[in-house]
Amino acid sequence: MTNVHVTQPEAPKITVIGTGYLGATHAVCMSLLGCEVLGVDVDERKIELLSAGTVPFYEPGLTDKLHEALASGRLHFTTDFDEAAQFGDTHFVCVGTPQAKDSAAADLTYVDAAFAALASRITKKALLVGKSTVPIGTATRLTHLVHALSPLGAELELAWNPEFLREGFAVDDTLHPDRLVFGVASEWALAQLSSVFAPILKNGTPVIVADLATAELVKVAANSFLATKISFINAMAEVCEATGADVDLLAQALSFDKRIGGRFLKPGLGFGGGCLPKDIRAFKYRAEELGVGAAVRFLGEVDAINNRRRVRTVDLIRELAGGNLAGVRVAALGAAFKPNSDDVRDAPALDVARMLYLEGALVTVYDPQANTNAHRLYPDLNYATTLPAALDNADVVALLTEWDEFRSADPDEMATFVCHRRIVDGRHALNADEYRRKGWDYRALGQPTPAAAPAHLNRGSESTQ
Ligand code: UDX
Repeated sequence: MTNVHVTQPEAPKITVIGTGYLGATHAVCMSLLGCEVLGVDVDERKIELLSAGTVPFYEPGLTDKLHEALASGRLHFTTDFDEAAQFGDTHFVCVGTPQAKDSAAADLTYVDAAFAALASRITKKALLVGKSTVPIGTATRLTHLVHALSPLGAELELAWNPEFLREGFAVDDTLHPDRLVFGVASEWALAQLSSVFAPILKNGTPVIVADLATAELVKVAANSFLATKISFINAMAEVCEATGADVDLLAQALSFDKRIGGRFLKPGLGFGGGCLPKDIRAFKYRAEELGVGAAVRFLGEVDAINNRRRVRTVDLIRELAGGNLAGVRVAALGAAFKPNSDDVRDAPALDVARMLYLEGALVTVYDPQANTNAHRLYPDLNYATTLPAALDNADVVALLTEWDEFRSADPDEMATFVCHRRIVDGRHALNADEYRRKGWDYRALGQPTPAAAPAHLNRGSESTQ
C-alpha cells in the first residue's frame, strides 16, 4: 500500500474522542491525510502507550502508520477534555456502544458522556461528529442535549459520519473507504466534513449526503445485511446436514451469480466480534421501540442461526470424540473472532472452547495474537504459546479461527504431535481432500461425511469469501 501524504493549505484541526480500534485508527489515518489531530481518551494507559508509539491492540499495519503520524508532528494524544475543546474545529466521537448488561439495547453511556463533556466546554463554533454505531434517533436526541449544555447553544452543530472499517483491514478501510456517509443538518456542517475528508473525496470516493437518521441507519442496515448473508449460508448448512448435500459446493455455485456474489457467504462457525452481534440485537430492540419491530423480526432468526452454529460445532467435536467429551483433549486453534485480530468480544471460537470445557473436555487454546485477551476472559482454559504445544497429544483438533498459520500448516507435520488424527474445520478453511488423504478424519458443518459423499467430488477449500 502506498503512503498517503497530503498537505492541505490550512490543515483542519480535529479531535478524536475514544482511542479503541475505531478511534485510534481514525486519529492516525486522518493525521496522515493532513489534519492536525488530537486523540483523546479517559484511559491514561492507552494515551501513554499511543503517545509512545505503541498500539494497545493488534491491528496489522497500524503501528507503522502510528510512527509515521507521530513523526509528522500532526498527531498528539491527551486525557484532557478542556484541551480537546479548545483544540478542535471538528470533533469525532468514536467511543464504544456495547450491548447493555440487562437487555439487547445499545449502552449509550459513553456516547452521551463524550458529547456532554465536549458541549459544556467548547466556546467557539465547532462541529461534533458521531462515528459510533448508535440506535436511530440518537443524533437528534444528542442535538437537543448538546444545544442545552453548550454556552454556544445551536451554534454547536452535530453530524453523523458512520464508520465501516473492518478489524484486520482498519488502516486500508479508513484511507480507502468504499464510500463516505455524511449525515448533516446544515450546509456549514457539510462544508466542514468535506474539508476534513478532502483527500479521500479527491480520489473519487462516493459520498452520500443524508439526514442524521439515514446516516445512523446506513450503518446498522449494512451490518444487518452482512450478518443475514452469513446466517443465510449457515442456515443452508443446516439443511445440508439433514440431506447429505454439501454447503461448500452450494456456496460456490451461488457465488457465481453476480446478483448474489461470494463475499460473506462463507459457511462455518458464524459471526462474532464487537459489532455484528450486538448491532443486530440493538437494531431489533430499537425497531420494536419505534413500533416497526415486525420489519426486522428476522434479525432474531439471524442471531439464532448464528448461535446454533456454535452449539453444532461442539456436537461435531463430541461426535468425532466418540460421543462423550469428558477427559477428551481438544486442541482449540484460534480464540479471536476472526483472523488478523486479537479481539475476543463475542468470539465464536472462545464460546466453543468454553462449551467444550463445561462438558469436561481438556481444552488447550492457541491463538497467534489473542491468547492474552482470551485468558483474561476465560482464565480456566489451558493456553499454549505455539501450534505444536496446542496439538500435543490432542484427541481432536478444532480449527475455530482461520489464521494463515493454521491454513498453511502441514497435515503430516501436525499428525506427529496429536494422539488421533481427527479434525473439525469450524471455518471451512482447510483442504478436506488433503487432510483425508493424509489419514485424518476431517469434518466440517454442512459437509457430508466421506461415506455419504460420492468419492469423485472435490471438496477442497475453494474460497467463497
Ligand atoms: C464488521 C463490518 O464488516 C464493518 O463494516 C463494521 O464497521 C464493523 O463490523 P468486523 O467486526 O471487523 O467488521 O468483522 P467482519 O470482517 O465483518 O467479520 C465479522 C464476523 O463474520 C467474523 O466473526 C467473521 O469470521 C464472520 N464471517 C465473515 C463469516 O462467518 N463468514 C463470512 O463469510 C464472513
